[in-house]
Order: sequence, then C-alpha cells, then structure tokens
Amino acid sequence: MKCAVVYYSKTGVTKRIADQIQAKFNADIYPVEPEKAYGGFLSSVARVVGEKISKKSPALKTAVSDFAPYDIVFIGFPVWAGTVPDFMQTYIRKANLAGKRIIPFATASTTGKESSLKTLKALLPDSTITDYFYTNSRQPADVQTWLDGIK
Ligand SMILES: Cc1cc2nc3c(=O)[nH]c(=O)nc-3n(C[C@H](O)[C@H](O)[C@H](O)COP(=O)(O)O)c2cc1C
Repeated sequence: MKCAVVYYSKTGVTKRIADQIQAKFNADIYPVEPEKAYGGFLSSVARVVGEKISKKSPALKTAVSDFAPYDIVFIGFPVWAGTVPDFMQTYIRKANLAGKRIIPFATASTTGKESSLKTLKALLPDSTITDYFYTNSRQPADVQTWLDGIK
C-alpha cells in the first residue's frame, strides 16, 4: 500500500498525527501552507472570520502534488470555523484525487466532526472516503487504535 499524507497544522496537533501515519505506513508526507502564514489564535480567528465574510479564500504557497502513484491519500487538518480550512478546501479541489481511497483526519477543540466529513464528501465526490478519524482536546480519540484498524 503506497501512502501519501497531505496536511496542514498551525500549532502542531495535526502534524503529530501526520508523523505517526508516516512512521506506520512509510508514507510520503506533503505539508500544505497558505501563501501568508496565520499568526496567533486570536489573530487567526479574526482573519478567518474576515475571509468568510469577504468570501476570499487565501492563496496557497504549496504547489499541488501528483497523487497518481498512491493507493491511499491521508488528508489532515485542524477544524477551523466548524469545517476544513478554506485553503485546504482549495488544495483538495485542485488535487486530482478521483478514484483514490482517502482517509481524512481532523483535530479540533470541540466541534466540526460531522460538518468536516460533509465538506470532504462534497469536495471528493469521485473518491472513496474510509476510516475518518476525528479527535478533539475535550475527548481525545486514540490515534494508534485508529491506525491499527486501517486495512
Ligand atoms: C482560526 C481557528 C479556528 C478554529 N475553529 C475551531 C472550530 O470551529 N471548532 C473547534 O473545535 N476548534 C477550532 N479551532 C481549534 C483547532 O481546530 C484545534 O486547536 C486544532 O487541534 C489545532 O490543530 P493544529 O495544531 O494542527 O493547528 C480553531 C483554531 C483556529 C486557529
């Protein structure tokens, strides 16, 4: 099984899971960055709210990779404003993931489990989404158990 991990992480929570996936599946890892990095928590929240109001999604710094060689693509992100961050949505939309098996993983403080999955399903109508993992700081889910269950 040839695996890729695509993820964004501002403060390292999502990255820790990405690194565990890489170690377990010997995956190639592709961090995604917006053109202009986000700052601290409050300034990021203010910026995201502004982007939602103006309907302006930030540009990407990262070029979209070619996922043709992979059997599985893991996609990781922190929940922002209840769902997948806008620039990650842009990345997913631009990537050619049709026909691929996608395993999403999301981290949050409390919300966004079902809404993130719904967003992903809309973005990836021609992919097969399996083994969705969601964890939040209030009720952390076990990463190793999840990884061990992926067949
Ligand atoms: C701009 C912004 C918006 C956020 N929105 C939400 C949210 O809607 N729901 C939630 O549960 N957590 C929210 N969070 C918290 C993050 O999802 C959470 O801290 C995540 O685990 C951080 O992952 P990271 O360290 O990989 O960036 C938000 C954080 C930021 C910075």
